[in-house]
Amino acid sequence: MEDNITIKFNKLYDTIRNCTKCKLYLSRKNAVIGYGNIKAKIMFIGEAPGRNEDIQGKPFVGSAGKLLDYLLNKINLKREDVYITNVVKCRPPNNRTPLKEEIDACIPYLKEEIEMIRPEIIVTLGRTSGAALSEIFGQRWEGIEKERGTIKEFEYNNMKVKMISTYHPAAALYRPEIKSKLEEDFEKISKISLQRKSKNLLDFI
Ligand code: URA
Ligand code: SF4
Repeated sequence: MEDNITIKFNKLYDTIRNCTKCKLYLSRKNAVIGYGNIKAKIMFIGEAPGRNEDIQGKPFVGSAGKLLDYLLNKINLKREDVYITNVVKCRPPNNRTPLKEEIDACIPYLKEEIEMIRPEIIVTLGRTSGAALSEIFGQRWEGIEKERGTIKEFEYNNMKVKMISTYHPAAALYRPEIKSKLEEDFEKISKISLQRKSKNLLDFI
């Protein structure tokens, strides 16, 4: 039998697939819902679907997704261990940056995802995601160069969540220096998730 949380996710996904709250619905092939483990402790948040994601209805399935898989694999994680979603669920034409009004229209869906997953760690990929999540948590966003790699801790709707911002994997495709910074930041993600695990083990003693 489907548990409560699965029913809630399916309801949210149906709403997103039929959503017409901003103009992006006019040009999308498919709205892109979240993917991965709904019981995950780590949530990765990108910007918006690109061409391949729009065709398949799944996040990070193109070349940026391949790099994301590589980064996850380096820290012994698979997509199925985490939850991956985007700030905006429909593809902006020509992959332009989503407009403020599109982000504002779509952000309630991301908030619902966060409230249902209750992640312990949120990883923002790129400046659109970092800025949007900072706004949700009522924090100032100081820009990607300054923010990336720093771990912040927030109380949000009765949950304690650590946020770590890093670059968007697409930015690393042609810039090796960004790729190594992403690798550094993923090492940090690995460390804080391992700390979390050992803390949970101590809880049993
Ligand atoms: N870039 C994103 O931000 N999200 C995707 O799903 C794919 C590429
Ligand atoms: Fe709805 Fe978000 Fe798609 Fe806009 S981008 S139509 S708000 S699901």
